[in-house]
Amino acid sequence: MVEDVRKYLRERWLNRDVISILDFSKEDLLFLFRITDEMNEIMSEGSEVLKGKVIATAFFEPSTRTRLSFETAAYKLGASVITFTPDLSSLAKGESLADTFRMLDGYADVIIVRSPLEGTAKMAAEVCESPVINGGDGTQHHPTQAMIDLYTIRTVKGNINGLNVGVLGDLKYGRAATSFIFGLLKFNVNSIWLISPEELRIREDVRLLLEKYKPPIHETTDLEEALPELDVLYVTRIQKERFPDPAEYERVKGSYIVKQEVLKKAKDDLIILHPLPRVDELPYEVDKTPYAAYFKQAHYGVPVRMALLALVLGRLPR
Ligand code: NCD
Repeated sequence: MVEDVRKYLRERWLNRDVISILDFSKEDLLFLFRITDEMNEIMSEGSEVLKGKVIATAFFEPSTRTRLSFETAAYKLGASVITFTPDLSSLAKGESLADTFRMLDGYADVIIVRSPLEGTAKMAAEVCESPVINGGDGTQHHPTQAMIDLYTIRTVKGNINGLNVGVLGDLKYGRAATSFIFGLLKFNVNSIWLISPEELRIREDVRLLLEKYKPPIHETTDLEEALPELDVLYVTRIQKERFPDPAEYERVKGSYIVKQEVLKKAKDDLIILHPLPRVDELPYEVDKTPYAAYFKQAHYGVPVRMALLALVLGRLPR
């Protein structure tokens, strides 16, 4: 538990770049959750704590939740938002990405980046003085999504430690799935079940990291084998756009469909998470079951991102 909040804020959060969930300690995450709880309380009336601050979003890939929840978070705290649109910018005239980020750095107090290319957020952080937040780049890092996922589990289940957590779907190309697994490594979960088609198992670099942290892992292709054990099931979309070979996608698409029928084998208090968007892996019929926690998870995107913006700018509402 953090005792001296001002000191901790100054030393651990002020001007901090948010590039990978692996850079955050368990204490950092628990503190973020505490501030997120406070943001939930001020959500309806909002606050002026970030008045005068400008938040830039620079998204080089489609997004619904990440961009809009960051923008909502900024407005809720009294900040303004500028939106960089790559197709309408001087990138189209041949300006480099580094120069583009340098420009944004001059205008904005926080820069949120999304890109299909691994390492874009890190590069932006290297050229920018203002804190850079990775809104998802490449196939590994989507730290703020993992923070939302962990916050949802801690809030709905009361705790993250001791749970049996399944991650289903595209573990090879899915950055939300990979970042979620990285986030789990910070807590003492009872077991992690990695459930995917053979072709979409975690990559070697991720496997090496799991070997370092040594959480109890089960790998399977069979959802029905894992399901009765699970307290949390994190379902993910097969990332069609990231397959180098469309034939590879054709072989695995539709591999898992978490129908209500399949859920008969689940514990009564299982919760299902999904970073969204979903395609066919999670049918609408599941939405009305008590397992469905994914809309709550999506809504927590706003308070978690409010907390993040306030923390990196060193200004808390109370
Ligand atoms: C994810 C992403 O972009 O990585 N979306 C999100 O931010 N919630 C997941 C996905 O696209 O499947």
